[in-house]
Amino acid sequence: MKALVLSGGKGTRLRPVTYSLAKQLVPVANRPILFYVLDNIIQAGITDIGIVISPETGEDIKRAVEMYRTRDARFTFILQEAPLGLAHAVKISRDFIVDEPFVMYLGDNLIGSGIGNFKEKFLYENPDALILVKEVEDATQFGVVEFDQEGKVMRLVEKPKFPPSNFALVGVYFFSPAIFEAVEKLTPSWRGEYEITEAVQELINSGKKVIAEYLESWWLDTGKKDDILEANRVVLDEWIKRRIEGRVDESSVISGRVSIAKGAIVENSEIRGPVVIGSGATVRNSFIGPYTSIGDFSHVEDSEIQFSVVLDGVEILGVKGIDSSIIGKRARVVGDGKNRIKLFIGDDAVVEF
Ligand code: TTP
Repeated sequence: MKALVLSGGKGTRLRPVTYSLAKQLVPVANRPILFYVLDNIIQAGITDIGIVISPETGEDIKRAVEMYRTRDARFTFILQEAPLGLAHAVKISRDFIVDEPFVMYLGDNLIGSGIGNFKEKFLYENPDALILVKEVEDATQFGVVEFDQEGKVMRLVEKPKFPPSNFALVGVYFFSPAIFEAVEKLTPSWRGEYEITEAVQELINSGKKVIAEYLESWWLDTGKKDDILEANRVVLDEWIKRRIEGRVDESSVISGRVSIAKGAIVENSEIRGPVVIGSGATVRNSFIGPYTSIGDFSHVEDSEIQFSVVLDGVEILGVKGIDSSIIGKRARVVGDGKNRIKLFIGDDAVVEF
């Protein structure tokens, strides 16, 4: 069995961060989202992994995968010239998959459990597609699955105005090679994309076996700013252990599950977990509150910040009360220590007070 990770796309909803960073490389608890995806695939025993990349961010994805460093898997990069949809990504990967079953995993999706059980179920039941579903409050933003009275998958619709159910499609799909014939039959949808929901519908229409499994654990589709903050919160909450490897002086207070990497320095500050602080970062005379990730070589001084994602090389000086923020690489935020700040920020930045 092989894996296909989709790491192309446009990431428009995550601008401005995605002007300079692939969406799949946005860090959650100081690790790119893509790394959690690869962990999950490799832990399920799947080691032959194709990664779909775009011309814009493909080289960055390749460099990140090199840094992921594992001897347990083999990676093949597949260039998708334009983001023409998930089914298009499948179509161009045929030479890589050849005639094996595979799991297709969206490179920006995080789930709170492994996929080993689903893989076993797929191999045992031998359908042409096994899809994962999760109940959501507002299904209009997702691919939605409609079941018949016996619980059989009847219909899939992409981002419906009037959802037939609240079961959204999670970004992990298991396919037999029959999916390639299905995608060949597709034409672009109203939004100009080859939709994977239509490809699965095509399987159903031609009498192929399509089954659904309910995902019990949490699932986060990190499309927008608040999704990243929520992913950061959940990952810090569930997966971060207390580990202090950096230097912390005696006038600092570290409470709860806080991870301070080697080479980081904390002086005269309070850190209230769950928090991660990257290597080479410095925190001085500051408060770092729960659910915050501070990237490598960032510098926080005379400031207060919580529930935020700070990328690498950021400087925050004299800013009180940063909350629910994502701060891009090398950004510089300087305040006068009295709640007023001067911002020098790029296109599409959002400031909420
Ligand atoms: P989406 O979030 O649906 O699309 P997007 O990345 O273009 O984002 P936005 O809507 O904000 O512009 O994509 C889900 C995943 O699939 C994501 O990891 C990107 C990847 N993808 C591809 O690899 N190729 C594609 O053609 C598309 C549409 C997405």
